[in-house]
Amino acid sequence: MNKITITRPDDWHLHLRDGDVLPDLVKHTARQFSRALIMPNLRPPVTTVAQAKSYQTRIHEAAQVAGYPQFQALMTLYLTDKTLPSEIENAKENGIVGVKLYPAGATTNSDAGVTNLQHCDLAIAKMAELGIPLLVHGEVTHASIDLFDREAVFIDEVLDPLRKRHPRLRVVFEHITTKQAVDYVSQANTQGGEIGATITAHHLLYNRNAIFIGGIRPHYYCLPVLKREEHRQALLDAATSDSKRFFLGTDSAPHAQHLKEHACGCAGCFTAAQALELYAQAFASVGKLQQLESFAAFNGADFYGLPRNEGTVTIEKISQKIPLSYSMGSDLLVPLNAGESLDWSILG
Ligand code: DOR
Ligand code: ZN
Repeated sequence: MNKITITRPDDWHLHLRDGDVLPDLVKHTARQFSRALIMPNLRPPVTTVAQAKSYQTRIHEAAQVAGYPQFQALMTLYLTDKTLPSEIENAKENGIVGVKLYPAGATTNSDAGVTNLQHCDLAIAKMAELGIPLLVHGEVTHASIDLFDREAVFIDEVLDPLRKRHPRLRVVFEHITTKQAVDYVSQANTQGGEIGATITAHHLLYNRNAIFIGGIRPHYYCLPVLKREEHRQALLDAATSDSKRFFLGTDSAPHAQHLKEHACGCAGCFTAAQALELYAQAFASVGKLQQLESFAAFNGADFYGLPRNEGTVTIEKISQKIPLSYSMGSDLLVPLNAGESLDWSILG
């Protein structure tokens, strides 16, 4: 297969940041995707509907400036120990698509995150009642747990007990990285509270060796961190399978070059500029390009109960070289696999 035309896709997990950098960032996503679900881990975090709505307006203005007036930002709230059930009702009435759980300290801008899920039990009960999905950064944070085991431990210690306490709660297990997460999502008994999972392009393409080949490579460092090859294989099997529970979420997370190439570099891989081509590369590597449309354009929309997009995008087997950097306001932004070749390009 040298060419594929698919329904226009959506990115169900994206970091766009805010302010002057928005036009430089949103254009990459809007070129390929009709909609993106925007993560709320700004400083300060997006904890109220009012904040989410004004952030959405700024994103839409930036998309317009960049020449993509049709692009739709779908918004999320950041769950804290203090989120009230009334704010969840407000979210439902105002079209907020999901509420994001960051365990405190798990990743970039998560210090305002949840310290103990019991503190948010009433808000979560309200989400279960109203059908608003909880979007989960699934890692425990105790220092005693090895970094590479944090997702697997989260399933047993946090996620499964949470779903048992709230059987109707709809959950998206974000950016899954392990075979344990694939198995949990595939086999979950849903009893009304469905579960889905997003998978990034970088976790489909790379295992943890990528962070260390020939020296330390900060642009391959993200959280949850890349895992062993057996986990990458399990993710690739899940993404290219017929299961409707797995869908596209890039977790593209831009950080300025000088903050990545640093003694204590930030977590996050910037993949937005070639997102769909990177996924095409991963799917083609196992001869499953024909499965890309459901993963990228159907499963997520169906999970969130939103219409599938109109229009199409064509990806062709034409090699492209990934630029060494992009501009992000007054900073430079280095993409994942900068300077390397990709086999696929989007036409037009
Ligand atoms: O690598 C990551 N970067 N993981 C996250 O969960 C957050 C993200 C960011 O915002 O930079
Ligand atoms: Zn993320």
